[in-house]
Amino acid sequence: MRAIVHLSLLVKFKYLVINNIIKLYLRKLKTNLRMKLIKTIKTVSNIIYIYEINNNLFAFKPSKNSEKEILANKLANLFGIKTLETKPVKIGNCDGILMNYLENSTLLTNYKNKLNKNQMKQLKKIILFDIWICNKDRHTANVFINNDLIIFDHDNIFQDGDARKFIKLDMGRKLNKNYVDIIENLLDKDLTAVQVLKKLGFTHDDFIKIKDEDIKDIVKDNEILKLLISRKVFDNIKF
Ligand SMILES: Nc1ncnc2c1ncn2[C@@H]1O[C@H](COP(=O)(O)OP(=O)(O)O)[C@@H](O)[C@H]1O
Ligand SMILES: [Mg+2]
Repeated sequence: MRAIVHLSLLVKFKYLVINNIIKLYLRKLKTNLRMKLIKTIKTVSNIIYIYEINNNLFAFKPSKNSEKEILANKLANLFGIKTLETKPVKIGNCDGILMNYLENSTLLTNYKNKLNKNQMKQLKKIILFDIWICNKDRHTANVFINNDLIIFDHDNIFQDGDARKFIKLDMGRKLNKNYVDIIENLLDKDLTAVQVLKKLGFTHDDFIKIKDEDIKDIVKDNEILKLLISRKVFDNIKF
């Protein structure tokens, strides 16, 4: 009996010691967390802050739409499109998102080479994705290109309007040299998004089928869920 009491005291003591060592380590880690502002990038409407945190570079974007940014990334991944790893954070009093900083990537807008077959496939997916999520702010400066295309900046999703608002001409130029001419010839016609996309060279295989259940797993807001499920049928979307 005595031996059992001793043993249980010993176990308790060991547990307390280990627990305190972990606590001390975590406290040390916290105080060691060094955050240094490296530079800022001014855009038309915002400032992006590049921080070094424990030897890694991150981009902080002040935003009141962090939820949209995170949701768009999840939906993009469901679509099979690459995004930046993004977390909602508060720095000082400022809400926003923290992303991995892609130091050596090129923006699609500055990329002079021809896109390869795989990159072209990814570009088509991105165009469909933006029509689906009503993103009126996709242009070639909101896409990085290394081997793959990586999209970011989803402040302006779920906007009202016909599909033509979400089809950006500079994106299309990379897809097809005559993209602008084709779109301009179609502008005053009453067409569906599918009819327009087929004229631009999209085939039936490009239109991705996503399961309602998979969207439900990601989207908690009922209105947005309804919108996304109804817009899955591209034939119903007016250009
Ligand atoms: N994670 C990042 N890594 C590298 N550069 C970035 C990153 N996020 C933003 N940038 C740079 O900042 C610019 C603006 O960022 P963006 O999110 O598009 O903000 P805005 O809503 O003001 O357009 C981008 O075009 C890019 O040059
Ligand atoms: Mg942008």
